[in-house]
Amino acid sequence: MHIQIGLLGCGTVGGGVIELLHKRKQKIAELTGVQASIKKVLIRDLHKEREVLLDGETLTTDAEDILNDPDITIIIETIGGIEPARSLILQAIAQKKHVITANKDLIALHGSEIIEAAKEANVDVYYEAAVGGAIPLIRPLKESLTANVITEIKGIINGTTNFILSKMTATGADFTEVLDEAQQLGYAEADPSSDVDGLDAARKLTILSTIAFHTKVKLSDVRVTGIREVKADDVRYANELGYVIKLLATGTETDDTLSLCVAPTLIPKDHPLAHVSDAYNALYVRGDASGDLMFFGRGAGSLPTASAVLGDAIDVFRNLTHRVTGLQDSSYLSEKPVVPDKAAAQPFYLRFSVQDRTGVFAKIAGLFGEHDINMETVMQKRICDGSAEIIIITHEVVPTNIDRLRKALEQLESVIAVHLVMPVERA
Ligand code: NAP
Ligand code: HSE
Repeated sequence: MHIQIGLLGCGTVGGGVIELLHKRKQKIAELTGVQASIKKVLIRDLHKEREVLLDGETLTTDAEDILNDPDITIIIETIGGIEPARSLILQAIAQKKHVITANKDLIALHGSEIIEAAKEANVDVYYEAAVGGAIPLIRPLKESLTANVITEIKGIINGTTNFILSKMTATGADFTEVLDEAQQLGYAEADPSSDVDGLDAARKLTILSTIAFHTKVKLSDVRVTGIREVKADDVRYANELGYVIKLLATGTETDDTLSLCVAPTLIPKDHPLAHVSDAYNALYVRGDASGDLMFFGRGAGSLPTASAVLGDAIDVFRNLTHRVTGLQDSSYLSEKPVVPDKAAAQPFYLRFSVQDRTGVFAKIAGLFGEHDINMETVMQKRICDGSAEIIIITHEVVPTNIDRLRKALEQLESVIAVHLVMPVERA
């Protein structure tokens, strides 16, 4: 069987897909009996120099060239963003074309619309590359682990911020100095603030939680803090206290309610997640029957992401040869409430600056007492301008209570600024 593909986008991921398909054509033919080729590639700029070697694919700036081509049975979308990606995918589905996408922005916001449209049209939609780059996460959660009740997913699911935080830890640099390098390596989103502000991880957590907890999770359900406020000083203080800082995404189900959070987090140096560096990702999944599982690998980059995209394409080839396309499960079973107050209590790190004079610490300690928050570690660093920086790690406290404490600290006349509050992971 000869299958022709229309590729939307030829950047980091699209270029990787072209390269990998060229390399694996023979193997794919032997495994599936399918001769696969990319017939047309949609781009914006015909004059742009491209690193990937094209081999007979036609470049076009007109999506209709691809959508109206009856020989093209599969669309691979690697444009990114919401529009025109959403409209192009829905048009492709309406034309009975199967769809593979690496687009987490789109799946997080419009996943159920796209899946419902695909069910209606009896075509496949796959999006393994949308979360975790090369790491298989969607399929294990959707298929291999279905016999479990999953109570927690937790991990590092943004390669750019992990690369930045790893470099900050290794070199003492600030994040702006490292961001350029992450962009050049093709890890960052077109708008890198998605990575830095935690939105990319929140979108991925939305997708994973919808599948893991069989519920409809909205992006706005995720409590998100990015790494913009993490300074070289925090990385240094964390190191002194025996921690590294990682952007951690956590989804927890308790008594049929969910708590979902993305935040820079202090991880003890001997914790397995502390060793997940550079653009690597890792995800823990806790199933009632499986116990704890950990998935680890390259979370971003051209060929790692192309590996997941092409894996999806090969599944569609197999489905087409066996005439079993369009087998989509319900994307969720219920709508479980998201209750931030139910988020498990955990220790928090606070860094704030105060006027360096007598009696100030007593007032701060008083506020902690009023909020029933116990201090575990206290460190003070004197700054030359008459102020001091205070770093405190608390005992376990629920996030809503730490929010109240932060507000109260900010109102204290002797507190100059609260710079950063972030959770601390236990060993
Ligand atoms: P990218 O390097 O910026 O490439 C985007 C491609 O889409 C470019 O070829 C661009 O054309 C084309 N394009 C953009 N807007 C278009 C439009 N309106 N019409 C036609 N073509 C358009 O992006 P990427 O890093 O490959 O990411 C693509 C998708 O994969 C995103 O959804 C991203 O979130 C996801 N993803 C990326 C990674 C990663 O490591 N980069 C990993 C997993 C998932 P020109 O070349 O002419 O500019
Ligand atoms: N910008 C994303 C990241 C790409 O850094 O993880 C992979 O989804």
